[in-house]
Amino acid sequence: MTDTQAVNLSLALRERTHDLHEILDKRVMQLNPFADTAHYGGFLRMQLRLHAAAEWLYHDENMVQLIPDLKNRSRLNAVQHDCDDLGVPKTEQHIDLNIADSVDIGTIYQGIGWLYALEGSTLGAAMLLKHVKHQLNLSETHGASHMAAHNDGRATHWKQFKAMLDALPLTPEQREQALTGATQAFIFVTRAVNEVLVFDAVEAN
Ligand code: HEM
Repeated sequence: MTDTQAVNLSLALRERTHDLHEILDKRVMQLNPFADTAHYGGFLRMQLRLHAAAEWLYHDENMVQLIPDLKNRSRLNAVQHDCDDLGVPKTEQHIDLNIADSVDIGTIYQGIGWLYALEGSTLGAAMLLKHVKHQLNLSETHGASHMAAHNDGRATHWKQFKAMLDALPLTPEQREQALTGATQAFIFVTRAVNEVLVFDAVEAN
């Protein structure tokens, strides 16, 4: 796939991961993640792996210099609270944290791509939160805190993040690493879906 520096980084990231997002979104929804609390527990384990794998980026000094305000964006604690609310066994959470630990994101430039995937997922969470509320009777204060909108509003928070990405003075190599990192994040999370959401799922058509 081609990419020119003429395109904003956020747009290039979107284009590069569009097809992977479609595959992921369809696969997750096919597995009925909100059918009951057991299915939703699997969805949370997928989120735990993703957020734990990328957590260090939110605290890395070099990364915070590139993208300020990162610390306030981490949702790992919220995901862990949700896992506890749903009674996801600690043994399973430990397995997920170990798998996350084994992920090698590589450089902070690849990390930019991972952060794009994580921050962008807050947009889709608006729709997912509606399902969780209606089908499982959970809320932003119980079981679904990681899906809560930021105080500034989801769209504004996302626009601010994209503006920070688009202002980064990256070399072509660093930019390519960011694009690679984003695809790695999507591939990682899709694999996680297939490992923790597929059990005796009654798959939707
Ligand atoms: C069933 C699961 C998912 C569904 C249904 C879903 C749905 C959506 C929707 C509807 C949007 C667009 C929202 C808007 O433009 O207002 C979106 C954006 C996005 N989602 Fe997801 N999503 C899912 C999972 C994920 C996951 C797990 C990730 C992270 C790996 C992710 C990453 C993103 C990104 C990066 C964007 C922003 C795309 C852009 O640059 O505009 N999504 N998602």
